[in-house]
Amino acid sequence: MPHEFHLKIASLTLKATGTLVVYVAEDAPPAGGAASAWQATRLDWARVSAAAKFRGRQGQALEILDPAGLEAERLLVLGTGKAGQGASLAGWADRGGSLAAKLLTLKVERAAVLLDDEAATPERVAALAAGLRLRHYRFDRYKTPKKEDAGDGVLTVTLHVASKQAADRAIADRMATVDGTLLARDLVHRPPNELGTLEFAAEAARLADLGVGIEMLDQPAMAALGMQALLGVARGSARPPRLVIMRWQGGKSDDAPLAFVGKGVVFDSGGISIKPGAGMEDMKGDMGGAAAVTGLMLALATRKASVNVVGVIGLVENMPSGTAMRPGDILTAMSGTTIEIVNTDAEGRLVLADALWYTQDRFRPRLMIDLATLTGAIGVALGSDHAGLFSNDDELAARLIAAGLDSGEKLWRLPMGPAYDKLIESRFADIKNSGGRPAGSITAAQFLLRFVNDVPWAHLDIAGVALNSPHSETNASWSSGFGVAVLDRLVRDHYEGK
Ligand code: BES
Ligand code: MN
Ligand code: ZN
Repeated sequence: MPHEFHLKIASLTLKATGTLVVYVAEDAPPAGGAASAWQATRLDWARVSAAAKFRGRQGQALEILDPAGLEAERLLVLGTGKAGQGASLAGWADRGGSLAAKLLTLKVERAAVLLDDEAATPERVAALAAGLRLRHYRFDRYKTPKKEDAGDGVLTVTLHVASKQAADRAIADRMATVDGTLLARDLVHRPPNELGTLEFAAEAARLADLGVGIEMLDQPAMAALGMQALLGVARGSARPPRLVIMRWQGGKSDDAPLAFVGKGVVFDSGGISIKPGAGMEDMKGDMGGAAAVTGLMLALATRKASVNVVGVIGLVENMPSGTAMRPGDILTAMSGTTIEIVNTDAEGRLVLADALWYTQDRFRPRLMIDLATLTGAIGVALGSDHAGLFSNDDELAARLIAAGLDSGEKLWRLPMGPAYDKLIESRFADIKNSGGRPAGSITAAQFLLRFVNDVPWAHLDIAGVALNSPHSETNASWSSGFGVAVLDRLVRDHYEGK
């Protein structure tokens, strides 16, 4: 059976088959629907909760099998922590995520969740629903199904809410964002033999069905524009590069768009400066930035966001070969800046140099945000709990940080400044493509800054969070799809219908 998840929304009822889930706050007896469900069992709350050492803390669970007085085969009481705790939207998504984990371990196939708490606003219920679906996701399409997995495939959860109409709307909206995150996760997971530059471009082109305008630049078109930096990376690969431009026109036709730019290195071997073998397979995920931009465009188009947006992704493969670029080569970017290649493994910034310059030059965007699995150093600095944020605009940076807290995709701003430019001065060209180990993530950002031409800009270094991420409440898979949720939140909060 497939690993599938179905979500239903219904108004409040205790007539549930399968598992009935209710929430109880810390050191408080069941209230509302939870109280009615408990009363039906005729069990003594004080005695049972004491016996189970259940105090309603976040993550605690109490299970009653075959509860008397209820149709359900199991009553699952979950703690929410102190009333008011976990009240942020990210906290509600985590609540949904840990519920999915619990239902999966119990091999539940059908669950009904009572959400009649006053705190359960439509937006929070939607966050919980999102968390459920995000945690349920796994990437197993290359695994031959095992016999013992049969019958453990489909999970159907019904959320019972006070106002079905309001919840329906909020959930549909939020599920568009989840669709985007899951598309990004799928793209990052897919093996590099099956997802090359052209296959990725074809996936992006499918967004045309949703009304997204698609354009593609091939090698000759990029050569004509002078994109030697991006093309330098592609030169060693048998796979041709593509620059894919996705446009969503949900705003007034003459409004300047928001621009999102993604690093799409479908596999990063390091090139001639080849990487060590251990862990190199992870570099199938070096297109995590492009995957997030594609997922974001899917989310915005699905929920018909009232804003103009352009997504630009640079798709290349970094391989060593007789045609590959060499350390010592000097390339002229589209902007005219000359770049000395000192390390062919610092390739992401070369892709972004031309993609960023092209984007600001052609679209004159209101703002430009790039996402890239750019440096291993960002994982050394921040681990996998925050992505690195770099910006030339304090207001944009503050908005991004706030969106990160609400979406659960957290960002931490690192400094920039002309002092760091010294590290990327070249003896022979305008700049070199690596400043070595000190401040490795910052010098990468300083490099990008040369190509943004004073547009309000932010750079998200997602190398520590997009792939190989430890499990979180809302993700149990290798790739997180990081970037879709935080940027969707940013757009919703500040740029729609304005
Ligand atoms: N794609 C890598 C960065 C990366 C590392 C992404 C780990 C995801 C996980 C990037 O192209 C790279 O190789 N960066 C070099 C830069 C150095 C050569 C200046 C690095 O981080 O070592
Ligand atoms: Mn590299
Ligand atoms: Zn890379």
